[in-house]
Amino acid sequence: PAVSGVPHLLTDNDLSPKQLSDIIQSACLFKHQAKVLGQTSGAPLAGKTMALMFSKRSTRTRVATETAVAYLGGHAMFLGSQDIQLGVNESLLDTSKVVSSMVDGIMARVGAHSEIETLAKYSTVPIINALSDLYHPTQILADLMTLHELYTPAGSDPHTTAPTSTLKNLRLAWVGDGNNILHSLMLQLPKVGMHITMATPKGYEPNAEILKQAQKNAKVHGTDLEIYHDPKDALKNADIIVTDTWISMGQEEEKKQRIASFAGYQLSTDLIEQSGANADWKFLHCLPRKQEEVTDDVFYSPRSHVFQEAENRKWTILACINQLLVKKGF
Ligand code: CP
Ligand code: NVA
Repeated sequence: PAVSGVPHLLTDNDLSPKQLSDIIQSACLFKHQAKVLGQTSGAPLAGKTMALMFSKRSTRTRVATETAVAYLGGHAMFLGSQDIQLGVNESLLDTSKVVSSMVDGIMARVGAHSEIETLAKYSTVPIINALSDLYHPTQILADLMTLHELYTPAGSDPHTTAPTSTLKNLRLAWVGDGNNILHSLMLQLPKVGMHITMATPKGYEPNAEILKQAQKNAKVHGTDLEIYHDPKDALKNADIIVTDTWISMGQEEEKKQRIASFAGYQLSTDLIEQSGANADWKFLHCLPRKQEEVTDDVFYSPRSHVFQEAENRKWTILACINQLLVKKGF
Protein backbone atom coordinates (compact mmCIF):
# COMPACT_ATOMS: atom_id res chain seq x y z
CA PRO A 1 0.00 0.00 0.00
CA ALA A 2 0.98 3.64 -0.07
CA VAL A 3 1.74 4.79 3.49
CA SER A 4 1.76 8.60 3.71
CA GLY A 5 1.83 8.73 -0.09
CA VAL A 6 4.93 6.50 -0.37
CA PRO A 7 4.27 3.27 -2.34
CA HIS A 8 5.52 0.01 -0.79
CA LEU A 9 5.42 -3.71 -1.54
CA LEU A 10 4.80 -5.25 1.88
CA THR A 11 2.37 -8.08 1.14
CA ASP A 12 1.12 -9.85 -1.97
CA ASN A 13 -2.15 -8.01 -1.72
CA ASP A 14 -0.37 -4.74 -2.51
CA LEU A 15 -0.48 -5.82 -6.17
CA SER A 16 -3.67 -5.85 -8.23
CA PRO A 17 -4.04 -8.63 -10.82
CA LYS A 18 -3.02 -6.19 -13.56
CA GLN A 19 0.00 -4.92 -11.61
CA LEU A 20 1.03 -8.52 -10.95
CA SER A 21 0.85 -9.44 -14.65
CA ASP A 22 2.69 -6.27 -15.60
CA ILE A 23 5.55 -7.06 -13.17
CA ILE A 24 5.91 -10.61 -14.56
CA GLN A 25 5.92 -9.33 -18.13
CA SER A 26 8.35 -6.53 -17.29
CA ALA A 27 10.68 -9.07 -15.61
CA CYS A 28 10.59 -11.24 -18.75
CA LEU A 29 11.41 -8.21 -20.88
CA PHE A 30 14.37 -7.25 -18.64
CA LYS A 31 15.67 -10.82 -18.86
CA HIS A 32 15.35 -10.80 -22.65
CA GLN A 33 16.99 -7.40 -23.02
CA ALA A 34 19.88 -8.24 -20.71
CA LYS A 35 20.55 -11.86 -21.66
CA VAL A 36 19.45 -12.19 -25.28
CA LEU A 37 19.99 -8.68 -26.62
CA GLY A 38 22.91 -7.83 -24.29
CA GLN A 39 21.44 -4.41 -23.59
CA THR A 40 22.25 -2.18 -20.65
CA SER A 41 19.61 -0.20 -18.81
CA GLY A 42 20.54 3.42 -19.42
CA ALA A 43 21.28 3.64 -15.68
CA PRO A 44 18.03 5.24 -14.48
CA LEU A 45 19.19 4.80 -10.85
CA ALA A 46 22.55 6.55 -11.33
CA GLY A 47 23.42 8.36 -8.13
CA LYS A 48 20.70 6.55 -6.16
CA THR A 49 21.10 4.10 -3.31
CA MET A 50 18.98 1.18 -2.22
CA ALA A 51 19.54 -0.05 1.33
CA LEU A 52 19.21 -3.76 2.04
CA MET A 53 18.25 -3.98 5.72
CA PHE A 54 18.41 -7.72 6.44
CA SER A 55 18.00 -9.12 9.93
CA LYS A 56 18.20 -12.70 8.58
CA ARG A 57 20.53 -14.54 6.24
CA SER A 58 19.99 -14.50 2.47
CA THR A 59 21.66 -15.77 -0.68
CA ARG A 60 19.13 -15.33 -3.47
CA THR A 61 17.28 -12.22 -2.36
CA ARG A 62 20.50 -10.42 -1.58
CA VAL A 63 22.30 -11.36 -4.79
CA ALA A 64 19.17 -10.68 -6.85
CA THR A 65 18.69 -7.23 -5.34
CA GLU A 66 22.33 -6.16 -5.47
CA THR A 67 22.72 -7.22 -9.10
CA ALA A 68 19.36 -5.70 -10.06
CA VAL A 69 20.29 -2.33 -8.56
CA ALA A 70 23.68 -2.51 -10.31
CA TYR A 71 21.95 -3.23 -13.64
CA LEU A 72 19.87 -0.08 -13.14
CA GLY A 73 23.03 1.92 -12.42
CA GLY A 74 22.37 2.44 -8.71
CA HIS A 75 24.23 1.50 -5.55
CA ALA A 76 23.05 -1.31 -3.25
CA MET A 77 24.11 -0.96 0.38
CA PHE A 78 23.87 -4.15 2.42
CA LEU A 79 23.11 -3.55 6.10
CA GLY A 80 23.08 -6.85 7.98
CA SER A 81 21.98 -7.44 11.53
CA GLN A 82 25.60 -7.33 12.69
CA ASP A 83 26.13 -4.00 10.96
CA ILE A 84 23.28 -1.80 12.04
CA GLN A 85 21.06 -1.36 15.03
CA LEU A 86 17.86 -2.63 13.35
CA GLY A 87 15.52 -3.17 16.25
CA VAL A 88 18.33 -4.36 18.52
CA ASN A 89 19.94 -1.26 19.95
CA GLU A 90 17.74 1.34 18.27
CA SER A 91 14.00 1.36 17.60
CA LEU A 92 12.65 0.51 14.15
CA LEU A 93 11.02 3.94 14.10
CA ASP A 94 14.32 5.79 14.52
CA THR A 95 16.13 3.42 12.16
CA SER A 96 13.50 3.92 9.48
CA LYS A 97 13.60 7.71 9.75
CA VAL A 98 17.39 7.81 9.66
CA VAL A 99 18.01 5.33 6.86
CA SER A 100 15.18 6.57 4.64
CA SER A 101 16.47 10.15 4.93
CA MET A 102 19.63 9.11 3.08
CA VAL A 103 18.60 6.44 0.58
CA ASP A 104 16.08 6.13 -2.25
CA GLY A 105 14.58 2.74 -1.47
CA ILE A 106 14.77 -0.02 1.11
CA MET A 107 14.64 -3.78 0.73
CA ALA A 108 13.94 -5.16 4.21
CA ARG A 109 14.13 -8.74 5.53
CA VAL A 110 12.65 -8.89 9.01
CA GLY A 111 11.40 -11.26 11.69
CA ALA A 112 7.84 -10.36 12.65
CA HIS A 113 5.81 -8.83 9.82
CA SER A 114 4.88 -5.96 12.17
CA GLU A 115 8.51 -4.82 11.92
CA ILE A 116 8.22 -4.05 8.23
CA GLU A 117 4.91 -2.29 8.85
CA THR A 118 6.68 -0.06 11.36
CA LEU A 119 9.50 0.62 8.92
CA ALA A 120 6.95 1.53 6.22
CA LYS A 121 5.01 3.79 8.55
CA TYR A 122 8.03 6.00 9.16
CA SER A 123 9.93 5.61 5.90
CA THR A 124 10.00 8.44 3.40
CA VAL A 125 11.10 6.06 0.60
CA PRO A 126 9.54 2.87 -0.88
CA ILE A 127 10.07 -0.37 1.01
CA ILE A 128 10.02 -3.84 -0.52
CA ASN A 129 9.44 -6.84 1.73
CA ALA A 130 12.42 -9.17 1.27
CA LEU A 131 10.75 -11.76 3.59
CA SER A 132 8.89 -11.54 6.86
CA ASP A 133 7.53 -14.33 9.02
CA LEU A 134 4.17 -13.98 7.24
CA TYR A 135 4.94 -13.14 3.60
CA HIS A 136 7.58 -13.42 0.89
CA PRO A 137 5.98 -11.50 -1.98
CA THR A 138 9.03 -11.20 -4.25
CA GLN A 139 9.49 -14.99 -4.16
CA ILE A 140 6.06 -15.61 -5.62
CA LEU A 141 6.77 -13.15 -8.43
CA ALA A 142 9.74 -15.34 -9.42
CA ASP A 143 7.64 -18.49 -9.12
CA LEU A 144 4.97 -17.08 -11.41
CA MET A 145 7.53 -15.76 -13.88
CA THR A 146 9.12 -19.22 -14.04
CA LEU A 147 5.77 -20.92 -14.62
CA HIS A 148 4.90 -18.33 -17.24
CA GLU A 149 8.15 -19.13 -19.05
CA LEU A 150 7.54 -22.87 -18.76
CA TYR A 151 3.96 -22.69 -20.04
CA THR A 152 4.53 -20.16 -22.83
CA PRO A 153 3.83 -22.10 -26.05
CA ALA A 154 6.80 -23.02 -28.22
CA GLY A 155 7.39 -20.31 -30.81
CA SER A 156 6.13 -17.51 -28.55
CA ASP A 157 8.19 -15.30 -26.25
CA PRO A 158 7.26 -14.90 -22.57
CA HIS A 159 7.87 -11.14 -22.75
CA THR A 160 5.20 -10.72 -25.41
CA THR A 161 2.72 -13.28 -24.02
CA ALA A 162 0.18 -12.40 -21.30
CA PRO A 163 0.84 -14.35 -18.07
CA THR A 164 -2.88 -14.81 -17.53
CA SER A 165 -3.10 -16.74 -20.81
CA THR A 166 -0.36 -19.21 -19.82
CA LEU A 167 -1.16 -19.63 -16.12
CA LYS A 168 -4.95 -19.73 -16.02
CA ASN A 169 -6.43 -22.97 -14.62
CA LEU A 170 -3.10 -24.52 -13.61
CA ARG A 171 -3.32 -26.39 -10.30
CA LEU A 172 -0.51 -25.89 -7.78
CA ALA A 173 -0.14 -28.31 -4.86
CA TRP A 174 1.69 -27.34 -1.69
CA VAL A 175 2.88 -30.10 0.63
CA GLY A 176 4.57 -28.81 3.76
CA ASP A 177 4.44 -26.06 6.34
CA GLY A 178 1.76 -23.37 6.48
CA ASN A 179 4.44 -20.69 6.27
CA ASN A 180 5.25 -17.34 4.65
CA ILE A 181 5.73 -18.87 1.19
CA LEU A 182 2.38 -20.65 1.31
CA HIS A 183 0.69 -17.45 2.52
CA SER A 184 2.09 -15.50 -0.40
CA LEU A 185 1.15 -18.21 -2.91
CA MET A 186 -2.40 -18.44 -1.55
CA LEU A 187 -2.93 -14.72 -1.95
CA GLN A 188 -1.35 -14.37 -5.37
CA LEU A 189 -2.34 -17.45 -7.40
CA PRO A 190 -6.05 -16.58 -7.75
CA LYS A 191 -5.09 -13.30 -9.43
CA VAL A 192 -3.64 -15.18 -12.40
CA GLY A 193 -6.47 -17.73 -12.40
CA MET A 194 -4.50 -20.55 -10.74
CA HIS A 195 -5.93 -23.11 -8.31
CA ILE A 196 -4.18 -24.11 -5.10
CA THR A 197 -4.45 -27.28 -3.04
CA MET A 198 -2.44 -27.68 0.13
CA ALA A 199 -1.57 -30.31 2.71
CA THR A 200 -0.02 -29.34 6.03
CA PRO A 201 0.27 -31.43 9.19
CA LYS A 202 -2.27 -30.69 11.91
CA GLY A 203 -1.07 -27.70 13.90
CA TYR A 204 0.94 -26.31 10.95
CA GLU A 205 -1.95 -24.85 8.96
CA PRO A 206 -1.61 -21.39 7.39
CA ASN A 207 -2.42 -18.28 9.41
CA ALA A 208 -6.23 -18.06 9.77
CA GLU A 209 -6.49 -14.35 8.83
CA ILE A 210 -4.39 -14.76 5.71
CA LEU A 211 -6.35 -17.88 4.77
CA LYS A 212 -9.56 -15.86 4.99
CA GLN A 213 -8.10 -13.22 2.68
CA ALA A 214 -6.89 -15.92 0.28
CA GLN A 215 -10.36 -17.51 0.22
CA LYS A 216 -11.78 -14.11 -0.61
CA ASN A 217 -9.30 -13.71 -3.48
CA ALA A 218 -10.14 -17.22 -4.75
CA LYS A 219 -13.84 -16.41 -4.67
CA VAL A 220 -13.38 -13.13 -6.55
CA HIS A 221 -11.39 -14.88 -9.28
CA GLY A 222 -13.39 -18.13 -9.34
CA THR A 223 -10.41 -20.34 -8.47
CA ASP A 224 -10.20 -23.37 -6.16
CA LEU A 225 -8.51 -23.27 -2.75
CA GLU A 226 -8.49 -26.67 -1.05
CA ILE A 227 -6.99 -27.58 2.32
CA TYR A 228 -6.02 -31.11 3.37
CA HIS A 229 -3.82 -32.92 5.85
CA ASP A 230 -2.96 -35.88 3.64
CA PRO A 231 -0.32 -35.02 0.99
CA LYS A 232 -1.98 -37.47 -1.45
CA ASP A 233 -5.19 -35.43 -1.44
CA ALA A 234 -3.32 -32.24 -2.28
CA LEU A 235 -1.19 -33.86 -4.99
CA LYS A 236 -4.13 -35.31 -6.94
CA ASN A 237 -4.38 -33.66 -10.39
CA ALA A 238 -1.55 -31.24 -9.56
CA ASP A 239 0.31 -29.55 -12.41
CA ILE A 240 2.91 -27.91 -10.20
CA ILE A 241 4.19 -29.24 -6.90
CA VAL A 242 5.85 -26.93 -4.40
CA THR A 243 7.35 -27.23 -0.96
CA ASP A 244 9.75 -25.37 1.31
CA THR A 245 11.80 -26.07 4.39
CA TRP A 246 9.89 -27.38 7.40
CA ILE A 247 12.03 -25.17 9.64
CA SER A 248 11.93 -21.52 8.66
CA MET A 249 14.49 -19.00 9.84
CA GLY A 250 13.78 -18.24 13.48
CA GLN A 251 12.28 -21.70 14.17
CA GLU A 252 15.59 -23.52 14.64
CA GLU A 253 14.74 -24.48 18.20
CA GLU A 254 11.62 -26.34 17.04
CA LYS A 255 13.62 -28.51 14.64
CA LYS A 256 13.22 -31.85 16.43
CA GLN A 257 9.50 -31.41 16.98
CA ARG A 258 8.95 -30.26 13.43
CA ILE A 259 10.85 -33.13 11.82
CA ALA A 260 8.64 -35.53 13.82
CA SER A 261 5.42 -33.68 12.96
CA PHE A 262 6.19 -33.66 9.22
CA ALA A 263 6.77 -37.42 8.96
CA GLY A 264 5.19 -38.63 5.70
CA TYR A 265 5.42 -35.21 4.04
CA GLN A 266 8.67 -35.77 2.14
CA LEU A 267 8.02 -35.34 -1.58
CA SER A 268 9.36 -38.16 -3.73
CA THR A 269 8.60 -39.31 -7.26
CA ASP A 270 6.78 -42.33 -5.82
CA LEU A 271 4.54 -40.26 -3.55
CA ILE A 272 3.76 -37.76 -6.30
CA GLU A 273 2.98 -40.35 -8.96
CA GLN A 274 1.02 -42.63 -6.64
CA SER A 275 -1.10 -39.63 -5.66
CA GLY A 276 -2.34 -39.01 -9.20
CA ALA A 277 -0.50 -35.82 -10.10
CA ASN A 278 -0.89 -34.81 -13.76
CA ALA A 279 1.43 -36.61 -16.17
CA ASP A 280 3.68 -33.64 -16.87
CA TRP A 281 3.94 -32.37 -13.27
CA LYS A 282 6.63 -29.85 -12.47
CA PHE A 283 8.44 -29.02 -9.23
CA LEU A 284 9.39 -25.68 -7.65
CA HIS A 285 11.09 -24.77 -4.34
CA CYS A 286 12.13 -21.29 -3.21
CA LEU A 287 15.41 -22.62 -1.70
CA PRO A 288 17.36 -23.08 0.47
CA ARG A 289 16.38 -26.75 0.39
CA LYS A 290 16.89 -29.47 2.97
CA GLN A 291 16.71 -33.14 2.03
CA GLU A 292 13.99 -33.96 4.49
CA GLU A 293 11.25 -32.15 2.54
CA VAL A 294 12.09 -33.45 -0.95
CA THR A 295 14.19 -36.31 -2.26
CA ASP A 296 17.04 -35.85 -4.73
CA ASP A 297 15.13 -37.81 -7.38
CA VAL A 298 12.61 -34.96 -7.53
CA PHE A 299 14.85 -32.02 -6.69
CA TYR A 300 17.50 -32.77 -9.33
CA SER A 301 15.13 -34.22 -11.94
CA PRO A 302 14.23 -32.57 -15.26
CA ARG A 303 10.81 -31.85 -13.71
CA SER A 304 12.46 -29.53 -11.20
CA HIS A 305 12.87 -25.89 -12.25
CA VAL A 306 14.31 -24.60 -8.99
CA PHE A 307 17.44 -23.01 -10.43
CA GLN A 308 15.55 -21.14 -13.14
CA GLU A 309 13.20 -20.03 -10.34
CA ALA A 310 16.20 -18.83 -8.29
CA GLU A 311 17.61 -16.85 -11.22
CA ASN A 312 14.22 -15.29 -11.81
CA ARG A 313 14.43 -13.70 -8.37
CA LYS A 314 16.77 -11.24 -10.04
CA TRP A 315 14.53 -10.32 -12.97
CA THR A 316 11.39 -9.97 -10.86
CA ILE A 317 13.10 -7.92 -8.15
CA LEU A 318 14.58 -5.78 -10.94
CA ALA A 319 11.07 -5.22 -12.31
CA CYS A 320 9.80 -4.25 -8.83
CA ILE A 321 12.63 -1.83 -8.15
CA ASN A 322 12.20 -0.29 -11.60
CA GLN A 323 8.50 0.12 -10.95
CA LEU A 324 8.87 1.63 -7.46
CA LEU A 325 12.04 3.71 -7.84
CA VAL A 326 12.11 4.63 -11.53
CA LYS A 327 8.42 4.70 -12.45
CA LYS A 328 7.49 5.83 -8.91
CA GLY A 329 4.73 3.32 -8.16
CA PHE A 330 2.92 0.26 -9.44
N1 CP B 1 14.38 -17.91 -1.62
C1 CP B 1 15.03 -17.03 -0.85
O1 CP B 1 14.50 -16.02 -0.39
O2 CP B 1 16.35 -17.33 -0.63
P1 CP B 1 17.34 -16.52 0.32
O3 CP B 1 16.84 -16.71 1.73
O4 CP B 1 18.67 -17.15 0.08
O5 CP B 1 17.30 -15.07 -0.06
N1 NVA C 1 10.11 -20.23 4.83
C1 NVA C 1 11.51 -19.91 4.67
C2 NVA C 1 11.76 -19.27 3.34
C3 NVA C 1 13.19 -18.96 3.05
C4 NVA C 1 13.39 -18.27 1.74
C5 NVA C 1 11.93 -19.00 5.82
O1 NVA C 1 11.18 -18.09 6.19
O2 NVA C 1 13.02 -19.21 6.36
